[in-house]
Amino acid sequence: MSLYKLIRPLVFSLTPETGHNLAISALKYGLVPPSPKPDFPELASELFGLKFENPVGLAAGFDKNGEAIKALLNQGFGFVEVGTCTPLAQKGNEKPRLFRLAEDGAIINRFGFNNKGAEAFVQNLKERPQNGIVGANIGKNKTSTDSIEDYIIMLEKVYGLSDYITINISSPNTPGLRNLQGREALDSLLGAIMAKRNTLSDKKIPILLKISPDTNTHEREDIAEISLKHNIDGLIISNTTIGRDFLSSRYAGETGGLSGKPLFKLSTETLRELYRLTNGKVPLIGVGGISSGDDAYTKIKSGASLVQIYSALIYEGFGLVTAINKRISELLCKDGFSNISEAVGVDV
Ligand SMILES: Cc1cc2nc3c(=O)[nH]c(=O)nc-3n(C[C@H](O)[C@H](O)[C@H](O)COP(=O)(O)O)c2cc1C
Repeated sequence: MSLYKLIRPLVFSLTPETGHNLAISALKYGLVPPSPKPDFPELASELFGLKFENPVGLAAGFDKNGEAIKALLNQGFGFVEVGTCTPLAQKGNEKPRLFRLAEDGAIINRFGFNNKGAEAFVQNLKERPQNGIVGANIGKNKTSTDSIEDYIIMLEKVYGLSDYITINISSPNTPGLRNLQGREALDSLLGAIMAKRNTLSDKKIPILLKISPDTNTHEREDIAEISLKHNIDGLIISNTTIGRDFLSSRYAGETGGLSGKPLFKLSTETLRELYRLTNGKVPLIGVGGISSGDDAYTKIKSGASLVQIYSALIYEGFGLVTAINKRISELLCKDGFSNISEAVGVDV
């Protein structure tokens, strides 16, 4: 039995948010043992100029302030995304704002971008180890009157400190944020961001866009078209959903973003559609409801070059990362592929 399975009853006896804060502290203070370094040469790939040792990443929101980067990189992930960070520190919504839906293998959160702000984030990024790929996920303050300005401030602050930058416009917990996915708003935002990047340094840091699964075909077409127009380096698909289908937990009615198993189908459909709409030209990161190597492999065959996980870690612990990598490796071999890149999008 894994160490996490042994201590999980203790973690689950705490409120979800206290359990989470404890996990961050344990990681930060070196109390979580590292995983053996994974060695799966067939899982290595190069995307937007970065060399990924394996495709399994930590999704944003776990380490919002970038406090435990070193320990997280030691858990077997191919990359770790920290944030979402906003220019100014903010408290987020009233507690309780995080719910475990154990019967559904799901989580609902309505944190609302609680974070310590850009200064603390930048300091933590400056102290990060240089080996290992780190993404910085950036957002806007709730009370900001100029959304574009907030993203530009964050872009300038984190530029050069992370290996890639994610523009998060898809959290359901910041009022109006998802409106930035609309055609005109997205065009203005990406236009401003890409123009700013050109002025920042000779080294082009990849810029990725994280999108919502709660979009219709027309909206997805717009997102694909505008992303291609601005040469976005990658898309992360997807954030949490506000949909609530077939849940049995008593917390099913809580407001916020739903993640974990019930998100798998919708986020994978969105991924497939974006792969098709971008003609496989833009690297995609598949996120949403992955709890096994088979799930991760389905995302890869649906167009994902990389995947990310969050909710399943709450139920399974970090041992899941290596288990997923091992299983993807087996499935690639079974299907006769010698490298992960050969399997990307084969089902679309
Ligand atoms: C508690 C919690 C907090 C999250 N916070 C953020 C965040 O700050 N920024 C972000 O881009 N996504 C955030 N997410 C979304 C995840 O990064 C991911 O897109 C989503 O949970 C789907 O993956 P999963 O089903 O593996 O959890 C959060 C998810 C959870 C469960």
